Amino acid sequence: MEFSRLVFERQSDRKYDSQRNIEDKKIDRILEAARLSPSACNGQPYHAYVCRGEVARRVGESCTKMGMNKFAPTAPVLIVITERPLVASAAFGARMLKNDYRSVDIGIFASYITLAAADEGLGSCILGWFDREKLCEAIGTEDTPRLVITLGYTLDGHREKKRAGGEELFTRLG
Ligand SMILES: Cc1cc2nc3c(=O)[nH]c(=O)nc-3n(C[C@H](O)[C@H](O)[C@H](O)COP(=O)(O)O)c2cc1C
Repeated sequence: MEFSRLVFERQSDRKYDSQRNIEDKKIDRILEAARLSPSACNGQPYHAYVCRGEVARRVGESCTKMGMNKFAPTAPVLIVITERPLVASAAFGARMLKNDYRSVDIGIFASYITLAAADEGLGSCILGWFDREKLCEAIGTEDTPRLVITLGYTLDGHREKKRAGGEELFTRLG
């Protein structure tokens, strides 16, 4: 899909066709896009768990604390992104410049996943709200989970994006 179209199409989808699974080939292409995403010092301080079936349901349930994200357990695929240690050069930069590159890198990784999903005709939603303990138990890790991404064939219609205007977001200099 043309890039500008892709950016327009991608949105947070929260209603999925529970009868329709996602083809393995599509997941493979989404993961390959994520693998090629850039990161500080090329450190790739993340790991992604691709969950289907009962694990996906349990991961989804872990995102529903306090009545939030009720749709999460209905997604056929959920990707959990966990944090891995920074490589030495990125850790040095992070300390010197007081900038947690891992959050930045994981955000970029997640955005590649959601854009690649849109390119495959799939809906997605990034979730930052989850019960860490339940989530770790569901995927069997002691790593720190940072984001969950739901994937599925969406039943949501396209929504107009609500964003701050360019004058608030951008300053052009020179
Ligand atoms: C880091 C992050 C965490 C988010 N967490 C949640 C969440 O827990 N539940 C949810 O429904 N949406 C979540 N979202 C989706 C945002 O609400 C959504 O991206 C934003 O409102 C803009 O809407 P759009 O994605 O449809 O363009 C999250 C997005 C990001 C980037």
